[in-house]
Amino acid sequence: MKELKIAVIGAGLMGGGIAQTCIQAGYEVVNIDVLEPALEKANNTIVKLLNKKVEKGRMTAEEKADILSRLTFSTDFQSLKGIDLVIEAVPEKIEIKKETFSKIDSYADEKTIIVSNTSGLSISEIASTTKRPEKVMGVHFFYPAPVMKLAELIRGIATSDETYELVKAFVIDIQKEVVDCPELPGFIVNRILVPMMNEAAFLVMEGCKPEDVDNAMRLGANHPMGPLELCDFVGIDIMLATMKGLYEGFKDSKYRPCPLLDNMVKAGCLGRKSGKGFYEYK
Ligand code: 3HC
Repeated sequence: MKELKIAVIGAGLMGGGIAQTCIQAGYEVVNIDVLEPALEKANNTIVKLLNKKVEKGRMTAEEKADILSRLTFSTDFQSLKGIDLVIEAVPEKIEIKKETFSKIDSYADEKTIIVSNTSGLSISEIASTTKRPEKVMGVHFFYPAPVMKLAELIRGIATSDETYELVKAFVIDIQKEVVDCPELPGFIVNRILVPMMNEAAFLVMEGCKPEDVDNAMRLGANHPMGPLELCDFVGIDIMLATMKGLYEGFKDSKYRPCPLLDNMVKAGCLGRKSGKGFYEYK
């Protein structure tokens, strides 16, 4: 068992995936969410993914049991007592992030470091809701978190060197490669990736078939997934919100969100999770 005790706040796709990444790397984790069903769903997904590894012969049943023994779930922020590092992965809305950070700050020990998995919001603004802005920074994971190799590191204005070094060492220890990012909307990956996905949506609006756009990028640029497949995979709502963040953050028309994405979200076509996006899912 590793020395640092970890809490992951939020049991959605990202929170559950980050918790899985940490327990697989030997850390003890409590996954906290105010919604009990979200915790149950996260647990089921993690167990399913680990079962798949056992079936494929990539992991023994004993290793699986050992990994799962390091994971607990809670709906109570009192569980933050004794935690060294909190990883926040709640929905990407500044008000929700600020409210969550303020709550974490009031329950966590004084020594506790808090990181946000925001995909582009201001770390300094989130940190300002706590009495410990020097112990706050951003660590942006990618979906699916247990598989994707990268984590972006973002320092807020007040983040101390000590916090940065400790968090960086932890992220490397959970087998991620790190890059330092400016505290600007979209950091590095989303600033490049999301406008590409947005442009793919414009092509569809202009009459291209989604299959053609995706095949073109898979075969012509060697991307593992086409940009529209990827929109459906991460969620059209998430993708649109990230694009809006770039547009509003830089006040630059080059980041104008594609109106088709807006209409799809209004129609409830959110991608895989809703059964329909650029493609249909059973
Ligand atoms: N959750 C967890 N693990 C998953 C998963 C999921 N949703 N989907 C697949 N995996 C795992 C599988 O279990 C398998 O693990 P194993 O090797 O231990 O058996 C491994 O990934 C490979 O899966 P498959 O063989 O089934 O499928 P592929 O080889 O086609 O890989 C993929 C799937 C890794 C998702 C690949 O298609 C890919 O890399 N796609 C691009 C993903 C990407 O670009 N993500 C970034 C999105 S942007 C983002 O996250 C930023 C945010 O802020 C919006």
